[in-house]
Amino acid sequence: MQFKSVLAIATFSVCIMLSACNNEGSSAVTQNNQDQKLKLQPIVIQGALPVESERMASKLDQVSIETIGGWKFWKGTYHGYPMIISKTRMGMSNSAAATAIAIERYKPIAIINQGTSGGHDPKLNVYDIILGKYATNIGAFKTPSKAVGAGSNSLEWVEAFDVLPEDETDPEPIAIRKFEADSKLLAAAHRTQHLYQKGKVVEGTIGSADVWNNELDRIHFFYQNYGTSVEEMEAASVAQIASQFSVPFIGIRVVSNNITNGGTYDAGTGEACQDFVLEVAEQYMSEQLKD
Ligand code: 5AD
Repeated sequence: MQFKSVLAIATFSVCIMLSACNNEGSSAVTQNNQDQKLKLQPIVIQGALPVESERMASKLDQVSIETIGGWKFWKGTYHGYPMIISKTRMGMSNSAAATAIAIERYKPIAIINQGTSGGHDPKLNVYDIILGKYATNIGAFKTPSKAVGAGSNSLEWVEAFDVLPEDETDPEPIAIRKFEADSKLLAAAHRTQHLYQKGKVVEGTIGSADVWNNELDRIHFFYQNYGTSVEEMEAASVAQIASQFSVPFIGIRVVSNNITNGGTYDAGTGEACQDFVLEVAEQYMSEQLKD
């Protein structure tokens, strides 16, 4: 065999050996990375309705379903990260119960409450997303006193009732309580926002109550006095429970309707929000690996 051919065969063999080594090396790194991801505690993402949760659940791997009482949880991984998708059902009580169960059962690293909402801010359009810097209860009041027959006017309900006062000896605690989003969750959402193309992504205040307000003066009252960007029925309740367990929390809501500017309901918003929030969760989890 000529010297050149021997050299070519030798070079070829070394290349194959090296690439084999490299592949082994990189797959070991991948495996190690995968193991690290699985050591994290799961992140919980909540949606009230099927249209606000099932799309996320369908994207989980190694999924199993757990039903506790009336609440459904999909347990699995998303791109290797442990994740629980929780269908809370609608309203403050349902979402509080689903949150307490999830915290006790899954010991989550963080909770994201997401879904549809109605705009209070006329600058917000259907498909815009609100990163809830604050979540606040807009269904708790101490009303003024009125005599029999004097009627009722909710625009006069100017005293907010604080259901989580520091001083529990005060039977009538009056304050607007705002639950602030966890700063790392908020930062992860900001780092992800460029991926959302269907509307703008802005910080704001989410107002929650077991009420769907269709009175424009009432909506304006909350916008003015509570600084609400949107209303829905769960985020402040979840924030209230998460705060008592010291679990990091953020509410992220898509505007699905906005009667302050004629924005009609669009069910596609629920799916858009789920896709965005999955990106936020992955971003947050990847940062937890570095901490
Ligand atoms: N007012 C109240 N809740 C709303 N939701 C969407 N839009 C609104 C709105 N304008 C959400 C709530 C609840 C369901 C009715 O949809 O969070 O889960």
